[in-house]
Amino acid sequence: MATYQAHETAVIDPGCTIGEGTRIWHFSHLMTGCVVGKDCNIGQNVVISPEVVLGNGVKVQNNVSIYTGVICEDDVFLGPSCVFTNILNPRSAVPRKDQYYRTLVQRGATIGANATILCGIKIGAYAMIGAGAVVTKEVPPYALWVGNPARPAGWVSAYGHRLQFDESGRATCPESGEIYLLEVGNVTRITQ
Ligand SMILES: CC(C)(COP(=O)(O)OP(=O)(O)OC[C@H]1O[C@@H](n2cnc3c(N)ncnc32)[C@H](O)[C@@H]1OP(=O)(O)O)[C@@H](O)C(=O)NCCC(=O)NCCS
Repeated sequence: MATYQAHETAVIDPGCTIGEGTRIWHFSHLMTGCVVGKDCNIGQNVVISPEVVLGNGVKVQNNVSIYTGVICEDDVFLGPSCVFTNILNPRSAVPRKDQYYRTLVQRGATIGANATILCGIKIGAYAMIGAGAVVTKEVPPYALWVGNPARPAGWVSAYGHRLQFDESGRATCPESGEIYLLEVGNVTRITQ
């Protein structure tokens, strides 16, 4: 017996793996061979293509297509109508199904509404991509990037707050109290 819930209008092809506690809403389509973890929320009109892997606790807002080649780790948030890609130079008349790039969204990262992620890119853990951004290169962990093309606009905590670093390179998340360290262009969380 299924331990996930799916609205009656959702289409779940044979051969999908779906974790316990996951909810799938109206008109969404999960394709053969995709893997969706536990306690995920798959919104309305979402497509999850073959071989896509979503970790546990992933939230996918309405109108997101997650193409083959995309991997989202635990607790990733995909904002409404954000766009993934899996081919860099598509041509209708030239088959490129063997050229799908891999896009990795690491644990806890957020993709803002309507943002576009070009393929072959890594979005680091807990990074935040602003609404409408077009991401063309790797984003480091805890980085906030906005715009088209997306550029660094600061750093955020695992709770999603901007981090203000002092002269020693330390910042405290105002919600969790966790401390972060900025060193040679990289942020790490030093308490949890
Ligand atoms: C990027 C984001 C996190 C920044 O939030 P913030 O720290 O409160 O930023 P502010 O509103 O103080 O804006 C700071 C500056 O960044 C700009 N900015 C904010 N969001 C931006 C975005 N998405 N793209 C480009 N510029 C943006 C502002 O215009 C402002 O510029 P200015 O200093 O020249 O006036 C937020 O704006 C955002 O896009 N969140 C995603 C929301 C979303 O998609 N949710 C989906 C679930 S519903």
